[in-house]
Amino acid sequence: ERKHFKRKKSHIGATILFSLKNEVGGLVKALGTFQEKHLNLVHIESRKSKRRNSDFEILVHCDSDHHQLRELTRLLAHLWKHPRPFGIFDEGLRAIPWFPKKISDLDLCKQVLMYGSDLDADHPGFKDSIYRKRRSYFADLARSYKHGEQIPRVDYTPEEVQTWSRVFRELHQLYPGHACKEFLDNLPLLAQHCNYKEDNIPQLEDVSRFLKGRSGFSIRPVSGYLTPRDFLAGLAFRVFHCTQYIRHSSDPYYTPEPDVCHELLGHVPLLAEPSFAQFSQEMGLASLGADDDAVRKLATCYFFTVEFGLCEQDGRLRAYGAGLLSSAGELKHALSGEARVRPFDPRLTCDEECVITAFQNVYFVTQTFDDAKNKMREFAKRIGRPFSVRYDASTQSVDVLQDGGGIRTPVQDPRRQVDEVDDALNRLARHSAAV
Ligand SMILES: [Fe+2]
Repeated sequence: ERKHFKRKKSHIGATILFSLKNEVGGLVKALGTFQEKHLNLVHIESRKSKRRNSDFEILVHCDSDHHQLRELTRLLAHLWKHPRPFGIFDEGLRAIPWFPKKISDLDLCKQVLMYGSDLDADHPGFKDSIYRKRRSYFADLARSYKHGEQIPRVDYTPEEVQTWSRVFRELHQLYPGHACKEFLDNLPLLAQHCNYKEDNIPQLEDVSRFLKGRSGFSIRPVSGYLTPRDFLAGLAFRVFHCTQYIRHSSDPYYTPEPDVCHELLGHVPLLAEPSFAQFSQEMGLASLGADDDAVRKLATCYFFTVEFGLCEQDGRLRAYGAGLLSSAGELKHALSGEARVRPFDPRLTCDEECVITAFQNVYFVTQTFDDAKNKMREFAKRIGRPFSVRYDASTQSVDVLQDGGGIRTPVQDPRRQVDEVDDALNRLARHSAAV
C-alpha cells in the first residue's frame, strides 16, 4: 500500500493511508501488524472510502525509525496481495505531506523548533533558574492544551507585569505616528474587551473570545517557535498559535523569540481585522499539503507581511507587521526613510532572505489587505498540488477538491451568495420605491 513519510529529528513520523475490504476482522489484522513491529500509533482515523463504496480507508500516524518502517512496508505488502493506489499523490507519485483536515487535528501540530523550555546559552534567561522553571511551566500548559478547551489563565508575577508595562509604554508612544489605521482602530477595543492596560497582561482566553467575534480567529497556546508548516496550517483554520510567557526582565526591549508582548501587542490588533484575517487564512490554506519548497516560500511571504509588512495609507508608509509593532527600534528604522522598501509581490518576496537577529535588508509594501490577499491567491495557484482545498467555516474543516463531486459543492455556494445579494437588492429597491 502507499505510504508517505514526514521527517522528524531522530525519528520518522509516518502517515500511512490504506484501505480495507469491508470484512470482519480486517482492521484488527492490519493493526496487529503495527503492534508486532512495536510501532507507536499517535493517531488513527477511519472513514468510508470515497473511491470504492464498499471499502474503508484507515489513516494511521505513527512514530518510528527507518528500520521499523522498512519492516512494516514488507509486512503490509505481504498482508495485502493486491495493493491499490489511493490517497493523495502528485503526478510523480510522490506522497503529499499529511495535513490537518479539521480544526481539532491541530492537536497533532505541535512540533516546536526551538526554545520551548530549553533555552540556548545566549538567551537572556539562560542563567536564571527561576525564569527557566517558569518557562517549563508555560511549556507544559501549551503541550497539554487540546482543541476546545479554555486556555488556562495565568497569574503573572509583579516582575512579569513590570516588563509588560515597560514594553507597553514605549510602544504606545510610537503607535500613533507609525501603526496602520486598522491597528489603531482596534487598540481601544482591546482595552475595552480584553483588559489591555499598562499594568495588566491580557489573558489569551479573553483575547481568543474577542477575536472569534470579530474575525473568526481563535488562539492556541504554544511553547515556542513552531515549524513553519505547523504554524501556517493553523492559519488555514483561522487559528493563531500564541506564546503565553514573557521575555526575560533583564532586557525588556529585546527578545530572541516571540513572547506575549509580541503576540498581544504586535499580532492581535490586526487579527481582529476581517480583511487581514482573510489574508492570513489564504496563506494557511495554500500551505496545506504543499511541498517543503512551497512551504518555505509561503513562510517567507508570511514573514515579510504579517511579521514585517508595511502599507501605504494616505500617502504615508505605516507598519502592520507584528515584528515591527512589537519592537520600537525596528519600527522606527523601517519608517525612517532610510530602509529599503519594495512593493509586495509574492513571486519576488518569497525568495528574500529573512533576517532574525538584525533589522531586515528590505521591507515590502502593500496597498490594502484585500490587494495582498488577491496577490497571495494568485501565487497559491502556482503551487504544485494535485488538488485544491476549500475551507468550510460551518464545520471548521477543509474539503479536498480532487474530483468532480467535491468541486461541484463549492460552486453552489457562490450561486447562493449571489442569490442572497440579489434578493437583498430587490427588497431594498422595493422598500425605496414604497418610501
Ligand atoms: Fe510573530
